[in-house]
Amino acid sequence: MEAFLTFIGRLHPLIVHLPIGFILLALLIEFYKKYFKESEKFLKFILFWTIISGFFSLISGYLQYQQEGYLWETVQGHFYFGILTLLMSIGFYFFLQRQVFLIQIPRLFFSLGLLVSLLLTGHLGGSVTHGEDHLTKPLKELSSTLLMDESTEFEFQLKEENFRDQPMYASVIAPILSQKCISCHNPKKTKGELQMHTYQALQIGGKNGSLINYEDPKQSELFLRIHLPKEDKKHMPPKSKKQLTKAEIKIISHWIEIGAPEKQTLGQLGVERHKIDPFIVKEKENFYPEVVLETPDLETLDRLLSKNILISPVTKESNLLNLSVLNYPKFGNQQMNLLEGIKQHLVSIDLSYSLVNDSIFYRLAQFPNLVQIKLNHTQITGEGISQLNTLKHLKKLYLVETALEGTSLPLLLNLPAIEQVFVYQSKRNLIEEIELTPELEAIIEIGTYALPRLASDAIVY
Ligand code: HEC
Repeated sequence: MEAFLTFIGRLHPLIVHLPIGFILLALLIEFYKKYFKESEKFLKFILFWTIISGFFSLISGYLQYQQEGYLWETVQGHFYFGILTLLMSIGFYFFLQRQVFLIQIPRLFFSLGLLVSLLLTGHLGGSVTHGEDHLTKPLKELSSTLLMDESTEFEFQLKEENFRDQPMYASVIAPILSQKCISCHNPKKTKGELQMHTYQALQIGGKNGSLINYEDPKQSELFLRIHLPKEDKKHMPPKSKKQLTKAEIKIISHWIEIGAPEKQTLGQLGVERHKIDPFIVKEKENFYPEVVLETPDLETLDRLLSKNILISPVTKESNLLNLSVLNYPKFGNQQMNLLEGIKQHLVSIDLSYSLVNDSIFYRLAQFPNLVQIKLNHTQITGEGISQLNTLKHLKKLYLVETALEGTSLPLLLNLPAIEQVFVYQSKRNLIEEIELTPELEAIIEIGTYALPRLASDAIVY
């Protein structure tokens, strides 16, 4: 008996197409009824069979729900709208039979009602079998490929402050798999007999056993599948689906190579910063400090301009200032006195090619809102650079082509907000002089590439 009920249940997807067909036919006749002589008779006949087949659809649907372990929450909408569709058909049928209590209702109520409830039932049914977003998903995927938007579905929780304390599997690997793989590899939909929604499921694996080969990680099923060329039939995810990014392939591969650990944190595993950078949620904070300041002292500005010192607000409305002495090469430590009136206002200062030396660090420490300091092509060696530790907003420091000593480099780590320090020296290799720790490597830029251009660089003096 049980098996028979299951059988009837499984017939549901087949049976439902009978009432669907009848209803569509009935609606067609209804909307074109002036072309038919005997439309009322036809309609009654078709609606009669709609009711019979609809009734069986309901029964078989209910059996399918009971026998196949669907969640009630997922099927209830479909179920209720199925009943509504059946009721609408019955109502329409008796309306045509000229039942007294129905005759007052406009005819359009039945035809349109039937159409709407049929569409909704069908859509909700599709959601049960294919997932809730089965209609919109292709559109979403299309739009995200068209817009080249790789980040639409990212839900990484990694934060700059504490990413090292997060378990690698839960915070990086699982989110990737859940975005790109789980839709086909889960308890409901188990392609290749493989589920991937938990760490244990990966151990169990699919048709070919565990996804991880601990003896020979590069032969792991998971590793092989994501490295196959996209055209290969066995490449995962399948060609038509949203692909893994390069960074994702890299990090999954690395995870497999270090033994696919479950609990260890990124810190414990020593995963390098650059490998996880794409997965760290970056808070969009302002580059410049958010301080409210009075208009800068006009006299000071006039004096600076008369000396060819270029000064400009960071944006039109802002009282924060950029300053450059490129046109005043005689600028030295002493001339810092000229800036007395704009101590709070200066956020970016360019003293490149000037006469300043290491004493400048004491002076610069008096400018609390500095975000960027350029000392390229000066004689500084870095002695006293720790004075800058009081600058809470200093993010970028340019020390290209200077007399900078390698031993000054580790001191840079004490700068509270530092993000990048440019230290390229064409005649020396600074980092040969010291031991380069990962922390240091993360902030110093040794490359020869051109410095990022600022708007102010384009100004012709
Ligand atoms: C669109 C559905 C779909 C998506 C998305 C998908 N797969 Fe698959 N996967 C399949 C199908 C179908 C098979 C079985 C055919 C085969 O083995 O190639 C399969 C098989 C596999 C197997 C082989 C299991 C075994 O033991 O034979 C692995 C491993 C795998 N997938 C990994 C992944 C990974 C990793 C992702 C995400 C990056 C992914 N899949 C995304 C459909 C999918």
